[in-house]
Amino acid sequence: MPHSTKPVSTADAAAIARAARLLEEGRLVAFPTETVYGLGADASNPEAVAGIFTAKGRPSNHPVIVHVARDADLSLWTTHLPREASQLIDAFWPGPLTLILPRAPQVPAAVAGGQDTLGLRCPAHPVAQALLREFRDGQGGLAAPSANRFGHVSPTTAQHVIDEFGAPGVGPLADVLDGGHCQVGIESTIVDLSRLATHGPVLLRPGQISAAQIAEVIGRMPALPDVAAPRVSGSLDAHYAPTTPLALAEGRALETAMEQLQTAGRTFALISYSENFAAIHGMHLPADPDGYAHGLYASLREMDARHADVILVERPPQDAAWQGINDRLRRAAFDSAGVLEKLLQG
Ligand code: TXA
Ligand code: MG
Repeated sequence: MPHSTKPVSTADAAAIARAARLLEEGRLVAFPTETVYGLGADASNPEAVAGIFTAKGRPSNHPVIVHVARDADLSLWTTHLPREASQLIDAFWPGPLTLILPRAPQVPAAVAGGQDTLGLRCPAHPVAQALLREFRDGQGGLAAPSANRFGHVSPTTAQHVIDEFGAPGVGPLADVLDGGHCQVGIESTIVDLSRLATHGPVLLRPGQISAAQIAEVIGRMPALPDVAAPRVSGSLDAHYAPTTPLALAEGRALETAMEQLQTAGRTFALISYSENFAAIHGMHLPADPDGYAHGLYASLREMDARHADVILVERPPQDAAWQGINDRLRRAAFDSAGVLEKLLQG
């Protein structure tokens, strides 16, 4: 049954206070961030954190990011804040950047999937900040993965969250704060600073804060992940995937794929950005990376709902500003060639 939530503004102190009390009681509350919606639980409560894993169907060895208020005391969470961390915090917090740091001993291991590091992020969304100020008087942390079932597309509206988990009280969620459509639209950039001495800074997940922007602040380019890098569940293949198979193609190859699919009696839903394909029925996203990222996940959900045989995505530009977007699309379309081949063979 469709269920709509009332938009909540930071000014709606009652809704935020209610959500904070539910979290303090160990319940799960979904809340907006500037990247995607998070499925929040009290990070200091192992049972509440376990509830996140159960609700998502996520393996318990996958670490969860802890969200903190602006000006939170980070010594509650990490044993060591290297100079690079302070520089990145000054430059980008609150904002879409997660730092992997050594975990303080009092932080439950369950939050970190048993690892001795912790992902920390200070989100910029005003509703997230208001919630974090209210929750445990601003000194708590909210463990929050993206509010989607394991492997699904991350939610960028409150309705997406309800589509994933059901309305508050019906499913595992005690509450959902509605903060509108997330501005950034893809998950935060993740930089590992926990192994600086041996590996230097490592980019675990690209996002809208680019590797070049990070290098500008800390004076060195973050390396790409190595085999020993801490686990990032979003770096598994076939993550961020809609139910409908997805294939990436561009230019002439995209035109050919559409013609061949039509000839074979197959249906497709198209997500494009260039003028060449603007006239074709489907979703046309802005041709700039910020606008594109903002609309991407909602488009994937909408195209998925058409139940076509395949979602065709016009491959975006490959330059650095599109790195986070291309990372998500590559994982969602991890077998482009195989998908098309199967459909065309009958
Ligand atoms: O933008 C975001 O980061 C969103 C919003 C809600 O803040 N959150 C998010 O969480 O994307 P999640 O759990 O869907 O993805 C977090 C990623 C996972 O891939 C996880 O493996 C990685 O962060 N991560 C968390 N803690 C880590 C740690 N200690 N070491 C390595 N990776 C970690
Ligand atoms: Mg996720």
